[in-house]
Amino acid sequence: MTSGVGTADDSLPDGYVIRPADPAEAEALRRFGAQLLGETEFFLREPAERARDAAEMAGVIRTFARTDGALMVNGWYRAPADGDGRDADEVPVAEAVMIPGRLRRTRAVATVGVGVLRAHWGRGLARALMRRIEAAARAAGHRRLELSVFAPNMRARRLYEGLGYDHEGIKRRSVDLPGHGPVDEWLMAKLL
Ligand SMILES: CC(C)(COP(=O)(O)OP(=O)(O)OC[C@H]1O[C@@H](n2cnc3c(N)ncnc32)[C@H](O)[C@@H]1OP(=O)(O)O)[C@@H](O)C(=O)NCCC(=O)NCCS
Repeated sequence: MTSGVGTADDSLPDGYVIRPADPAEAEALRRFGAQLLGETEFFLREPAERARDAAEMAGVIRTFARTDGALMVNGWYRAPADGDGRDADEVPVAEAVMIPGRLRRTRAVATVGVGVLRAHWGRGLARALMRRIEAAARAAGHRRLELSVFAPNMRARRLYEGLGYDHEGIKRRSVDLPGHGPVDEWLMAKLL
């Protein structure tokens, strides 16, 4: 998997592109990840549980790149040029991942997830990233995409339902969520 040039997705507003993660962009992606995990309580990992530094982040990205059927893909945003015509830097604002099973009997099944920085919610980024993941999953021959979402996370539940994920079950009181106490996880999956 190489980063190459990002693709502008027709369904996204101007300024956004989607492209696979590149180890050369590890520091920007580490900072983005820390911000994302700090902005929401709706992930299993806390900010310090992603990557401590750029080297560790680069290792994570390389693992995705060399694992068959895996993908880490980001949405990047470039603000319009300022009054003097100077281009702003492109910054990562969203991410989706796909992690296949490690064993022969589960390698056609992948766990997926997505997150978007709050300032960029509601612009179709999560939907576009999940569609990119699904296209890669089909190309890899995956049969099933699965995830868990915390019960109070209505926004994400609607996103996944809208993308055709079915509710398969509930892990009761499986996560200690700050501000909520123990909550259920909803198990959702889509058969391809
Ligand atoms: C959930 C999340 C990924 C959605 O990202 P987003 O880029 O705002 O989503 P999109 O703009 O692509 O919208 C996709 C769908 O999300 C749902 N959605 C969007 N805005 C919503 C809102 N205000 N209320 C409820 N659902 C909403 C809708 O189903 C929407 O589809 P539609 O536009 O066809 O109605 C984002 O809110 C987020 O990162 N939340 C924190 C992290 C998280 O919860 N990740 C999932 C962990 S399982």
